[in-house]
Amino acid sequence: MVKIGVFDSGIGGESVAARLRQLFPKAKIISVNDSANVPYGSKPPSEIIRLTDIAIQPLLKAKCDAIVIACNTATTNAINHLRTIYPKVHFVGIEPMVKPAVKLTKTGTIAVLATPSTLKSHRYAELKRQWAPQLTVVEPDCSIWAGLIERGDHHRVDVHVAVQESLRWNADVIVLGCTHYHWIKERIQSIAGPNIYVLEPTDAIGARIDFLLAPKPGSNSRRKQRVIDPLQPE
Ligand code: DGL
Repeated sequence: MVKIGVFDSGIGGESVAARLRQLFPKAKIISVNDSANVPYGSKPPSEIIRLTDIAIQPLLKAKCDAIVIACNTATTNAINHLRTIYPKVHFVGIEPMVKPAVKLTKTGTIAVLATPSTLKSHRYAELKRQWAPQLTVVEPDCSIWAGLIERGDHHRVDVHVAVQESLRWNADVIVLGCTHYHWIKERIQSIAGPNIYVLEPTDAIGARIDFLLAPKPGSNSRRKQRVIDPLQPE
């Protein structure tokens, strides 16, 4: 049986794991989090690397066919390190969907809602440099959102302020760059209105895992190539 591991600092990963259970009903989806240390979103990269490495140990022990780092903060800060120290493991990262947003925008402005540690990461800077050098990228302050959502205080997340800031800059695409925000996607969409795209990556991740795990013609084993960049396809 195919085993897919899912890691997030907290309950963001559950939104991803639930969708993967629908998409892959025959697979075993093993989900772990780090409830003792969530949120990760304002921690320094070295700490995010250390905590993520500890938290994924059960998934490594379970010999998962793929491990989804269902956390933008951990992906942007730690996945390169994990790929280096565990070169045989198929890690699938989740990072802000900058490239898809760039393809969709007509106004030339996108908004990225993410944790401070994601927004400060080298990987995120690289995504913007690579795909959005000519665009305006608005990054409203969402620094307390993950903590609120984690403890069930969704209603205290001030979605209006972030969406209004995005719209004031004329953004027509809002990227959910933290899996905790998936739980309030509908609210964000309803405040932003039907003309604004609100992007989150769960289905793209499902498609990437499907591709990664499908037996390839002429081969009796699963695809060996590591997924480097699941959300920014060639
Ligand atoms: N859900 C995580 C993300 O996608 C991080 C939330 C946190 O731990 O701050 O970034």
